[in-house]
Amino acid sequence: MRKFIIFCYLLLPLLSGVSAQTDTSVSPMLATEREALYSLIQAFAGNSFNGSELYPDPCGWTPIQGFSCDLFDGLWYVTVVSIGPIHENSLECTPDARLSQYIFEFKHLKSLSFFNCFHHPITIPSQNWEKLAGSIETLEFRLNPGITGEIPSSLGSLTKLMSLVLIENSLTGELPSSLGNLGGLKQLVLAENRFSGQIPASLGGLRELLILDFSRNSLSGPLPSTFGGLVSLLKLDLSSNLLDGKLPMELGQMRNLTLLDLRNNRFSGGLPPSLQGMVSLEEMLLGNNPIGGNLVGYGWGQLKNLIILDLSNMSLTGKFPESMAQMKRLRFMTLENNQLSGNLSPKLAALPFLNALYLNSNNLTGELEFSEDFYSKMGRRFSVWNNPNLCFPVGSSHVPFGVKQCDEKNSLSSTVLKVEVGRGNSNQGTIMAFDKVSEQYYELQKRPLFWGKGMGFVFLSRLEIWVLICVLVGEEKLHRTVLVVAVIEH
Ligand SMILES: *[C@@H]1O[C@H](CO)[C@@H](O)[C@H](O)[C@H]1NC(C)=O
Ligand SMILES: *[C@@H]1O[C@H](CO)[C@@H](O)[C@H](O)[C@H]1NC(C)=O
Ligand SMILES: *[C@@H]1O[C@H](CO)[C@@H](O)[C@H](O)[C@H]1NC(C)=O
Ligand SMILES: *[C@@H]1O[C@H](CO)[C@@H](O)[C@H](O)[C@H]1NC(C)=O
Repeated sequence: MRKFIIFCYLLLPLLSGVSAQTDTSVSPMLATEREALYSLIQAFAGNSFNGSELYPDPCGWTPIQGFSCDLFDGLWYVTVVSIGPIHENSLECTPDARLSQYIFEFKHLKSLSFFNCFHHPITIPSQNWEKLAGSIETLEFRLNPGITGEIPSSLGSLTKLMSLVLIENSLTGELPSSLGNLGGLKQLVLAENRFSGQIPASLGGLRELLILDFSRNSLSGPLPSTFGGLVSLLKLDLSSNLLDGKLPMELGQMRNLTLLDLRNNRFSGGLPPSLQGMVSLEEMLLGNNPIGGNLVGYGWGQLKNLIILDLSNMSLTGKFPESMAQMKRLRFMTLENNQLSGNLSPKLAALPFLNALYLNSNNLTGELEFSEDFYSKMGRRFSVWNNPNLCFPVGSSHVPFGVKQCDEKNSLSSTVLKVEVGRGNSNQGTIMAFDKVSEQYYELQKRPLFWGKGMGFVFLSRLEIWVLICVLVGEEKLHRTVLVVAVIEH
């Protein structure tokens, strides 16, 4: 729009035969503002950059890629600085790019952002931020491996800030509690740095915050109970840190939260029942935490909006709760690698959108009661292997991977097993059981056969012990049917 207006302004005098006066075509700007702009660019683009030659009218006729200006009281001021290889003609950062103090000279700077620019070590200036306090709303350093040191506590003076994004840099140290002063903040993203220490309780005061992402750092200690004050929050991602302790029950006050990602931490002490208050939750990701406790007695049905549930590897015990089959929007659920027991409710198959269900490596028992349709819809996205006491009904034509057929006597304890190598198929072994009563072998299951050094191996699970049957087959006998017996003992 601005370009268009200037264009007409220049064109009209030309058409009417009056020579254009270059001076009047230049957007009025304070000399100090223009010099600050040139110096800022020189600091990251190198000293050979000659601003007055290349961009004599930086807020007008010759705008600079990555910079925007606005008019205040008849003068043009830089309002947006966005540096990095975003567009083809963006200014390039030199390998030893520096962050100039001139950023503090822009009276009306609203947004400052550096993307993939600093590779040579620099720190974020610790002083002068108060000069930007009246204007700056967005501050972003993204993918700058050269940015080291701590977050200066003085950033807490930027009271108009709405977005603070310091992602994928090399920042260290503790998070300053002064960040809790940024009352208007909507987005606080500090992911993928090397921050350590505890999360300041003061951050719980950011009542307008919508997105909080501290993932992939080394933050430790508990999650402050003040976090219950983050009532507007939509996304909370603290995954891949060293956080521990109990999850505060106040988390349940985040009624608008859609994403809760606490995976890969050290949280313990069970799931607080208040979590069922997070009624907007679409993704609950808590896997890889020694949280412990059980899932019974939670109002799973209240999490009506849940689409993705990851409770894998959490040392969960107790029964698999049938109420989990009430989460009607569920698409993906993993509870793998726990010690959950009890039967699997066949009602899970009625969840209309469910397309992945991982329950392997638990202690589930009984007969699987799903339909053939369910197995064929889910394919490999249904996994229940390594549940030693789970079985599929005799006569099923679809066999879930790693599950044995229900034995009528429900025990293989005293049967003799043999493994038969199929003719012409050296990849599959058939596990046969010997029935002492009828004195006959019958087929239990086909299993993949693993070959090594002329020997075939089949894995069997039994009371959480993987019993190895070693099939002694010489290479020359590969295509013959070989019977080997092994006794499995409790
Ligand atoms: C930049 O260019 C201007 C105009 O061409 C020239 O007068 C000035 O000396 C140059 N400055 C530098 C530092 O090269
Ligand atoms: C939660 O979301 C609703 C609907 O978007 C909104 O009206 C309400 O203000 C939000 N609550 C808070 C505390 O932000
Ligand atoms: C299970 O979680 C623990 C942390 O509680 C982690 O150390 C371990 O690597 C996880 N195991 C798997 C298989 O992911
Ligand atoms: C698995 O469940 C059985 C009962 O079904 C129980 O005896 C056994 O102790 C459980 N194992 C583990 C590791 O929890």
